[in-house]
Amino acid sequence: MTLSVTVPTDAMQRPPAEVRYADELARLRAADDAPKPPGWALSLRAARAFVVGDDALGVTRKFVGDPSLIDRALVSLATNRGLLLVGEPGTAKSLLSELLAAAVSGDSTLTIQGGAATTEDQIKYSWNYALLVSEGPSERSLVPAPLLRGMAEGRTVRFEEITRCPLEVQDCLLSPLSDRVLAVPELPGGAGMVFAKEGFNIIATANTRDRGVNDMSSALKRRFNFETVFPIADFDTELALVEAEAGALLRRSGVTVAPHRDVLEVLVTAFRELRTGRTARGDEMDRLSGVMSTAEAVAVAHAVGLRGWFLRGTAGTAADLASCLAGTAAKDNPEDLAKLRRYLEQHTGWRAGAQWRELRDARRELPGG
Ligand SMILES: Nc1ncnc2c1ncn2[C@@H]1O[C@H](COP(=O)(O)OP(=O)(O)OP(=O)(O)O)[C@@H](O)[C@H]1O
Ligand SMILES: [Mg+2]
Repeated sequence: MTLSVTVPTDAMQRPPAEVRYADELARLRAADDAPKPPGWALSLRAARAFVVGDDALGVTRKFVGDPSLIDRALVSLATNRGLLLVGEPGTAKSLLSELLAAAVSGDSTLTIQGGAATTEDQIKYSWNYALLVSEGPSERSLVPAPLLRGMAEGRTVRFEEITRCPLEVQDCLLSPLSDRVLAVPELPGGAGMVFAKEGFNIIATANTRDRGVNDMSSALKRRFNFETVFPIADFDTELALVEAEAGALLRRSGVTVAPHRDVLEVLVTAFRELRTGRTARGDEMDRLSGVMSTAEAVAVAHAVGLRGWFLRGTAGTAADLASCLAGTAAKDNPEDLAKLRRYLEQHTGWRAGAQWRELRDARRELPGG
């Protein structure tokens, strides 16, 4: 059997933003008569509309938040400084970086995933060893990684979770960001200096729960403009987002009946209370140590819908929610599981609505219950 690595677009679990929203990008390009920074696929105004939506052009809102954040982010990308999106886990930093790259360069796939084992080779370039041995270092034997490609082609490079990389590895971004050049000393003559083409820049993301940005070298910090992405403050906005995102995920999963809005309301309420440690009527309660972000709420709403549909052929219910919460909220932490159980025992009884009663009754579904 041969392995085909080319997956057709309609069979992809999650196509990149430029594929998911190809129609919207085409409409924005066609209507875009505003000035563009050199090397950009869209003007700042059109890129902004791609992220925050434009009803007249049929462009959906993809990121919920302060539009001035998007303006500042785009202006940073048009300067010679990188953009660093920082914030709590699950606040859509990665989504925003993907959308910005798709808007600015028409491509969000030049991505480096930062981690403890990330090496300079994975960021800059490596070699095809067979060719290196047979013909020595040459442009043919060079295997470009996202940074080199972004610089040579004038495109946006995404660096996910940059602060999870070792400091000395992060610092290989210094000269690409400040001098806009990357040295490839092995290549002979003028080919050994790759000068960045117009349009190149870097969007990095960093999560406040991992090793913080404080650990970044001050030299590198100075080469980035920082933007903080905050969790969604307003309940109704978060609920609408969870409903829309989970609905889209469920459709892709072949589920035709989504959980009822009442169930999602209970879900979003529970997430917000377990995140903040305070109930809607002001009682203090235990916060969970696990991440209870909007991204997690969307994932749980998706699971609730799948559970109802694939196990019973009905919409997901508040009882399904109890089962799905344990795997997200408590993970492997027994203390969080106990806190979750206490929450269901002590803080659900006083609320009006059948969904809350059902959630309370389903607390026995929790593992070990
Ligand atoms: N403000 C928001 N606008 C749009 N979607 C949001 C928002 N906040 C959370 N989401 C949801 O979260 C998902 C994106 O989460 P994403 O992975 O981008 O977060 P992150 O901040 O990168 O998290 P992490 O720190 O764990 O990497 C979106 O697909 C969406 O469902
Ligand atoms: Mg992320």
